[in-house]
Amino acid sequence: MLGKKILIIGGSGGLGKVFGKFFKKKGFEITLLARNEERLKKAAEQLGVKYELDLKKSVEDADIVMVSIPIKSTPEMIKTVTPLMKKNALIFDVTSLKNAVYKELSNACDKYPINCVSLHPMFGPGIKDMKNYVMILLRVGGTKQYNDKINDLIALFKEEGLNITETNPKTHDLRVALTLGLPHMLNILFLNLLKRSDESLSELTRYTGTTFLLQKVFAESIIQREMEMFGEIQMENQEFHEILDMLEKLIIEYKKIIKNKDTEGFNKLFIQGFNYSKNDDHFKYSYNYFYDFMKILKKEKM
Ligand SMILES: NC(=O)c1ccc[n+]([C@@H]2O[C@H](COP(=O)([O-])OP(=O)(O)OC[C@H]3O[C@@H](n4cnc5c(N)ncnc54)[C@H](OP(=O)(O)O)[C@@H]3O)[C@@H](O)[C@H]2O)c1
Repeated sequence: MLGKKILIIGGSGGLGKVFGKFFKKKGFEITLLARNEERLKKAAEQLGVKYELDLKKSVEDADIVMVSIPIKSTPEMIKTVTPLMKKNALIFDVTSLKNAVYKELSNACDKYPINCVSLHPMFGPGIKDMKNYVMILLRVGGTKQYNDKINDLIALFKEEGLNITETNPKTHDLRVALTLGLPHMLNILFLNLLKRSDESLSELTRYTGTTFLLQKVFAESIIQREMEMFGEIQMENQEFHEILDMLEKLIIEYKKIIKNKDTEGFNKLFIQGFNYSKNDDHFKYSYNYFYDFMKILKKEKM
């Protein structure tokens, strides 16, 4: 039902390559497309698949078009490629934000006889095995074949052990603001605050037992990731802008509590945090996990 030919726009990128490998394993005929030929050729050779620089030619030939390019460019790319697609072909993006992309895909499947779905893999290019990872899926719409195609696509992902969570663009972007934008921001701020203190990380590490070490390693893992995408996840998401406003108010409240030595106010915030998290699945084991992570770090020679 899905056809055999898949075009991956952004095929030389991190996720493009992950999905290229995935679809090749599933027996698809892959074509990678991007702008820089040298990188594209290298990616195609690595995966043992074809590459193409001509967008029109490759879209017209594809049964499935995957768009895996930066967030800001994705809606425009969808607008460009959807009029060129074969009847009943399927298009999906993998962008980390869904508001703008969903609108563009909805327009496309209203105008053309194609099938549109939007995916957000909750993993990055470093993934080794998709088992037990999450993929968010937003159904958009399409032709009479829509349900069969989407069910076949979902079945492919499930075979690999992926958990599929379905949602809508508003809920998606709010949750991504909280689950990606917020932790990214807190860690970027953490490192910048330390930098402004003029203390070196190595010197601070000599004074640390547990909490700082774990926090530092987590922040260091984040600061090595995709700067452009991390910026877009925060700047392009209106839901994140609202979270920032909430944070600003919370910091002002917190500052007042600390400066006024308001123990009651501090305890109130602490207990609110405790009560909010106490029924979470990880809560009971969190302190044990903390020491499991510490065991790994303590084995290292610093
Ligand atoms: N990385 C993650 O952890 C992650 C996780 C979930 C979702 N995502 C989403 O996946 C998408 C891709 O992310 P990524 O990390 O794989 O990015 P990436 O490594 O920067 O790769 C981007 C790819 O897009 C190509 N490209 C950029 N602009 C293009 C254009 N106008 N036309 C054709 N090709 C273009 C690039 O090659 P050229 O520059 O040579 O054209 C490259 O192949 C993003 O929308 C991101 O939000 C990423």
